Amino acid sequence: MPTEDARKVFVHTFGCQMNEYDSAKIRAQLARDGFVGTSDPGQAHLILLNTCSIRDKAEQKMHSALGEYRLLKKRGQQVVIGIAGCVAQQEGKALLERYADVDLVFGPDAVSHVRELVRGALEGQRLLDTTFLDLAEYPFVADVDPDATNQIGAFVTIQKGCDNKCTFCIVPSTRGIEASRPSPQILTEVRELVARGVKEITLIGQNVNSYGLKTPSELTFAQLLRAVAAISGVERIRYTTSHPRDITDDVIAAHRDLDVIAAQLHLPVQSGNSRVLRRMKRFYTREHYLGVIEKLRAARPDMVFSTDFIVGFPGETDDEFEDTMRLLDEVGFVTSFSFKYSPRPGTSALRLGDEVSDEVAGARLTRLQDRQRELSLAWHRSLEGTEQTVLVEGPSRHDVGVVCGRASTFVMVNFPGDESLTGQQVKIKVTRGFTNSARGERLASVT
Ligand code: SAH
Ligand code: SF4
Ligand code: F3S
Repeated sequence: MPTEDARKVFVHTFGCQMNEYDSAKIRAQLARDGFVGTSDPGQAHLILLNTCSIRDKAEQKMHSALGEYRLLKKRGQQVVIGIAGCVAQQEGKALLERYADVDLVFGPDAVSHVRELVRGALEGQRLLDTTFLDLAEYPFVADVDPDATNQIGAFVTIQKGCDNKCTFCIVPSTRGIEASRPSPQILTEVRELVARGVKEITLIGQNVNSYGLKTPSELTFAQLLRAVAAISGVERIRYTTSHPRDITDDVIAAHRDLDVIAAQLHLPVQSGNSRVLRRMKRFYTREHYLGVIEKLRAARPDMVFSTDFIVGFPGETDDEFEDTMRLLDEVGFVTSFSFKYSPRPGTSALRLGDEVSDEVAGARLTRLQDRQRELSLAWHRSLEGTEQTVLVEGPSRHDVGVVCGRASTFVMVNFPGDESLTGQQVKIKVTRGFTNSARGERLASVT
């Protein structure tokens, strides 16, 4: 049972950076009504699940977590339970019908009026809000994450929604039509974050390369990168997610000109086979993808790449999968996220038929992930003996007296050092490479 006076909110976040960012915006707004965050659901007056429905597994995770929180309520805890995010948008009223002790269900577009919704729920109303808002005046939330003061890196949203129609993807229906956030708001948020000590900014959106294109007077994505880079105190810029079809030469030129942009890019390819890509409606070919990688490497020779893969997409043959395996080696991805295709409600891939059995998809996934681990290890080993400049993120989670930081390529390096180095750029020499990180020793501070 909650004991102290302050009202406490526990937010359980599933899914991608958009959800992490939205959760921070939810906490920031609720702070205005006196809510403080807690990491203990047993102490909370309000439990919010910010949910993801990208794959069936993600959706199931939220249902099992919800089961635990409902149990707290059944045992007498005075707590309002709310479901937010992409499952809330997708299932809406059905969630209220299925769970009598859930008080609140709201989609991503309701984040800007979460205070009203929570007030209503605290007064005993059961509320549903899954309305998509008018894009012309879309209320991107200005309140800055209350936890940003302790962070080295922070996300800044630059757009909402997605106008693509990748045939496997639920996002366009959970997040709605794409809208770009006005650049002055983005730049203001970046300045505020930097003033709180943030050094690394990650611009987020489902397809950042289409930023601003629907508003003729708006900056392009390349111009936005340059404007963020010009803000003093921004030491590193990342962005995600980029669509391989939409990367333009001016963005590639920004990578060439601005050291402050990370030498790492997450560029989800999904498949290495052009016929599969066509059925996914990704609108690029294997050759186009490789061409983009080549151009980026020419612009920035130290650039490394990570990606997402889907295996077992309907109709994917053994040979088509081999193209994906070959692409993995050809690009030499330093990391990747790979998933078995998961059929999602309302998506057009459901109509393709020709399903790949779970067994075949599972075997493909294992092969892909095994090979990726080898490539990741080889990359980290290739760094042994090199000097790297890392931005220190803080103490290592595993070892006392060890801190961790990332270089511009996003390589994670652990090295002996004091917590007081947090936020500094430090020169280290890599002594040993592992699968997911490297170890090093300190050479000097970078001024
Ligand atoms: N906007 C990003 C992707 C967002 S979703 C882009 O276009 O790349 C993150 C990743 O989840 C995708 O890149 C894809 O690899 C995976 N994914 C999306 N839908 C999926 C599905 N139905 N089954 C399996 N993986 C999926
Ligand atoms: Fe989904 Fe495709 Fe949009 Fe990415 S670009 S969010 S995969 S529809
Ligand atoms: Fe999941 Fe929604 Fe993000 S479906 S991946 S939380 S946009």
